[in-house]
Amino acid sequence: MKSVHIGICGLGTVGSGTLNLLQRNAQLINPRANCEIIVSQVGARRDNPNCDTSSLQVSRDIFDVAKNPEIDIVVELIGGTTVARDLVMTALENGKHVVTANKALIAEHGMEIFATAEQRNLMVAYEAAVAGGIPIIKGLREGLAGNRVNWLAGIINGTTNFILSEMDSKGREFADVLSEAQQKGYAEADPTFDVEGIDAAHKLVILASLAFAIPLDTQPVFTDGITQLHPQDVAYARELGYAVKHLGIARRTDEGVELRVHPTLVPQSCLIAEVDGVLNGVMVSADAVGTTMFYGPGAGAAPTASSVVADIIDVARAMHSDPQSWVPALGVPTAAIKPCRILDIQEIETSFYMRFSALDKPGVLSNITRIMADASISIEAIIQREQPATEEYVNVIILTSVTRESALDAAVERIEALDTVRDSVTFIRVEHLDQ
Ligand code: HSE
Repeated sequence: MKSVHIGICGLGTVGSGTLNLLQRNAQLINPRANCEIIVSQVGARRDNPNCDTSSLQVSRDIFDVAKNPEIDIVVELIGGTTVARDLVMTALENGKHVVTANKALIAEHGMEIFATAEQRNLMVAYEAAVAGGIPIIKGLREGLAGNRVNWLAGIINGTTNFILSEMDSKGREFADVLSEAQQKGYAEADPTFDVEGIDAAHKLVILASLAFAIPLDTQPVFTDGITQLHPQDVAYARELGYAVKHLGIARRTDEGVELRVHPTLVPQSCLIAEVDGVLNGVMVSADAVGTTMFYGPGAGAAPTASSVVADIIDVARAMHSDPQSWVPALGVPTAAIKPCRILDIQEIETSFYMRFSALDKPGVLSNITRIMADASISIEAIIQREQPATEEYVNVIILTSVTRESALDAAVERIEALDTVRDSVTFIRVEHLDQ
């Protein structure tokens, strides 16, 4: 049996998980890779008590690994985009294949990295970059290769979903749940990446590029996190038969592609509404297969290591075969990736949930419904709770039919200008995910 030598850079949550999995399942992994996978070197600034490196060559300089002539595959698990980019480019320049779990790196520098790898007949594999342990990259790129994808929508940040689920089911405080997510190794080094939707935007860009053969580019993604989400909206949504989930959505329309990340109301009857905790779920709707859902653990040491090791096996098995037979990183050669128009958020069409506080007196609601009618927005449902006589203002909740966001915005502006409405209007996009 041939040997394939790998170097692992980074011994954090995913690095230590990968080392442990390679050690634990070596008997299963080697025949699957059709070679003996040997960890020749580890590059890490510090040790990690969660894994045993006593029998391994450990370098404090990760670039030693990228330049080590013995190594065939560099596994980049350091995170970030600056040093990680230099490391990956150095590895490619030194003729190494690369496996990475780094979604920010792929979303921001993927085009450059993939083009360089192609020119040098090297592979870059990144299954762990999206949805942790779920094989969504392979599922989308290879499993659905015969389809034209219409849209995809996913819960692609485990930390956010964990926080929303715990707040909803146990009434826990945001900061308390976030700190537990950090302890469990779910959260990013900078957890604002999770809760502000940046991590989900990185992953969405990767999925959209695979689905629509468009360039990796984070710039045009509309991104909103969960920090402004009010618990009362989660409760009202539940009353109306919806769950609030933080979704990444990519949709192909006649006018261009929608790319957006934001809290979303989804019907409780929709499978994705049941994805709770650190689990991720990605729905993909395509012309031949219909609507599919990929579901599983989206973060954590072992699930993410599962995807990293799958990539190591793939690369190790394929590296001695003809490069023409390799699956391109984005499903097609980088030259076949073509820019397309990305829609502004004002151009998207969806339903909306609205909440505002209005004076409890005759005629107030009719003024509001008139504004909605003027904007050609049809109201699907409306709730106004009976209030104690001492309360001057009442919460009004409206669910709209599908409308253009620019029309909704114009109506919101007019409603907020009314003397009878206090504070600003809260609105959350609603997706039925049924076509
Ligand atoms: N911080 C990420 C998450 C880790 O919570 O989903 C996996 O990418």
